[in-house]
Amino acid sequence: MKPTFLTATFILSLALLACERKTAVNHVPREEALKVARDAAQEAFQQLSGELAQAIQAGGTVAAIPVCKSKAESLVSKVAGERELSMIRLSDRPRNPSQMATGADLAAIESFRAAILAGNPPSPAVSQEADGSTLVRLPIVASQPLCLQCHGSDNDISAETRAAILASYPDDKATGYRLNELRGIWRIGVRAP
Ligand code: HEC
Repeated sequence: MKPTFLTATFILSLALLACERKTAVNHVPREEALKVARDAAQEAFQQLSGELAQAIQAGGTVAAIPVCKSKAESLVSKVAGERELSMIRLSDRPRNPSQMATGADLAAIESFRAAILAGNPPSPAVSQEADGSTLVRLPIVASQPLCLQCHGSDNDISAETRAAILASYPDDKATGYRLNELRGIWRIGVRAP
C-alpha cells in the first residue's frame, strides 16, 4: 500500500510541476504578436526613412550616414520601449558586422528572399520561444530609391559616400542592392505582460 501511495504522490507532484511550468510560459497569441510587431516595424521604418530623407536633403548623403546608426538606434529603442518589445535589424550582408544574421534569422532571410524572387509576398516568420517570448521576423525591403544612395551599386552611390561608409564600416557588405530587394529583417520579441 505504502509504495503505491508514494508512487502516486510522486506522479502527482511531477504533474503539478509540469503544470506550473506550462502556466509560467505564457505566450502572446500568434496573431496578436504579429500585429504588434508589424505596427512597430512599420512605425520605425517610416520614421527612420523620414529622418534619412530629411538629413540627406539638409546636408547630403554623407552627412546622413550617422543617421542610419545613431538615429536608428534611438528611434528603434523608442518604438520598442513604448510597446515593451525587443527590436533589432539584421542582415546576411550587414554594414555593421554586429548585425549579421545567423541561425533562424538567416533562415528567415533566405525564405523571404526566395518568396520575393518568386514574385510572392514573404510571409512573416513567427516562433514561440521556450522563455515565453514570441519572435516575429519581418522583411526589410530597400523599397525607396533613397536606400540605394547608401546600399545600391556603384552607379547609385557616390564615390564620396562610398569612402565615408568604408571609413566607418571597413567590412561593409551592404551594397549592390536593387530597388525592392530584401535588405534584411526586423527581429521583434513580444512578451506576455
Ligand atoms: C545615408 C546612408 C544610408 C541610407 C540612405 C540608408 N542606409 Fe541603411 N544603413 C546605413 C548605415 C551607415 C548602416 C549601419 C548602421 C549601424 O551601424 O547600425 C545601415 C544599416 C542598415 C540596416 C541594418 C543592417 C546592416 O546592414 O547593418 C538595414 C536593414 C538598412 N540599413 C536598411 C536601409 C533601408 C531599407 C534604407 C532605405 C529606406 C536605408 N537603409 C537607407 C546607411 C544608410
